[in-house]
Amino acid sequence: MAIDYQTKIPNNVDLSNDRGLQRALEHWQPAFLDWWKDLGPTTYQGHDVYLRTATSVDAKGWATFGHVKMPDYRWGIFLADKQPERTIGFGDHMGKPAWQQVPGEYRSTLRRLIVTQGDTEPASVEQQRLLALTAPSLYDMRNLFQVNVEEGRHLWAMVYLLHAYFGRDGREEAEEMLYRHSGDIDNPRILGTFNEPIDDWLSFYMFTYFTDRDGKYQLKSLAESGFDPLARTCQFMLTEEAHHMFVGETGIGRIIKRTLEEMQKLGTDDPETLRKAGLFDFPLIQRYINFWYSSALDLFGAEISSNAATYFANGLKGRPDESTYEDHDCSNSVEQIETPDGMEEVASRNAMNWVTRNAYVRDCGIGLQRWNRTIAKAGFDFAFHLPSERFNRKVGLWSGKEIGVHGKPASAGEVEASLPSETDRGYVKSQMVGVTEPGKCANWTTLPDRGINNMPLDFEYVRAA
Ligand SMILES: [Fe+2]
Ligand SMILES: [Fe+2]
Repeated sequence: MAIDYQTKIPNNVDLSNDRGLQRALEHWQPAFLDWWKDLGPTTYQGHDVYLRTATSVDAKGWATFGHVKMPDYRWGIFLADKQPERTIGFGDHMGKPAWQQVPGEYRSTLRRLIVTQGDTEPASVEQQRLLALTAPSLYDMRNLFQVNVEEGRHLWAMVYLLHAYFGRDGREEAEEMLYRHSGDIDNPRILGTFNEPIDDWLSFYMFTYFTDRDGKYQLKSLAESGFDPLARTCQFMLTEEAHHMFVGETGIGRIIKRTLEEMQKLGTDDPETLRKAGLFDFPLIQRYINFWYSSALDLFGAEISSNAATYFANGLKGRPDESTYEDHDCSNSVEQIETPDGMEEVASRNAMNWVTRNAYVRDCGIGLQRWNRTIAKAGFDFAFHLPSERFNRKVGLWSGKEIGVHGKPASAGEVEASLPSETDRGYVKSQMVGVTEPGKCANWTTLPDRGINNMPLDFEYVRAA
């Protein structure tokens, strides 16, 4: 079957003139669609959803809105515009022309980096496949679907690189992406956290706030890569990632606003009273923050890592916003890292995961400040905080150490009390009810101030076809 690639798969990689790539995609696309129908969002595949689709990379073309059935979403392939004469910006190859083809000696490392990034994209779609059933509003349901189709597109982006630059191995890896499944005992997704279902909306907002933000920082590091097609692909993906974090920040912000309303009305912040009113009290939200933040920190890998040093030295993965640093070589500098045995001097190249993570930590704080301002304005004495980076770690220097949220040794009981309990999780789940009437939302949240693309709040963001 002949496919019109310019219309069916919007792209700026001149697909219609690349026969080899077309043939590879002809095989992969139907498998992708089967995967989407089987493991993508349940129940709503035949509905019309008000989605944004990129049709080109310029300002006008990358955000076209319209109602579309998800399986008809135009998953496209976009790379940020090529910068003429771009050079490698860090590491041992600093100043040499960026690679337009995969350098032979880095082939397997690059493939691994792309596969690991790519695997998280369909994984999150699988994790969230049942969430629509309990969407607190049509607006939220639409945002979930937008995130899902874009994660699907991110898979396309990585699969494009595999197909276009890695020959037969790449094609095999692309197939594998659809065979591994989140939570599958025999064939799980690569990273552990991507194998847990996300089946309540508080967790979904936490995921988009904390886990997607990890994604943002991984993409920012890869956007610096000396392998130019990878850099340009990731630069474009970052524009979509921004919306995912918006969903998280405003999702949590709206819950806080709703809880505050009732706190003012009832004149209390007592968790029990608030739970009787069907709301999410702040200590509960704080425990969710503790959990999601600490597990996102693990995604950055060990603080001291020879792999990270190699990626940097070889010019494969830089630091987020590499150009803002003065030293792009980093072979003669050190970082001071706090370890369980005291401060340690670590060669900067070996500390790249830690450096990237520090940028992430600063970024995570911004939303919390915003939420805290809202709480202070409402006259309540409560402030959300990020727990210590040592708290509840499963990876790196502090892995398995019993440390409390303030960074000091703590009993197992104290650590546990800072994380969502079974009761918390059960309570959150008990409040999940789907609200599908336009302009209405679940009791535990509020509608946002503004609709998507300036549409009214009672707009039918998702409707039966
Ligand atoms: Fe993504
Ligand atoms: Fe994302």
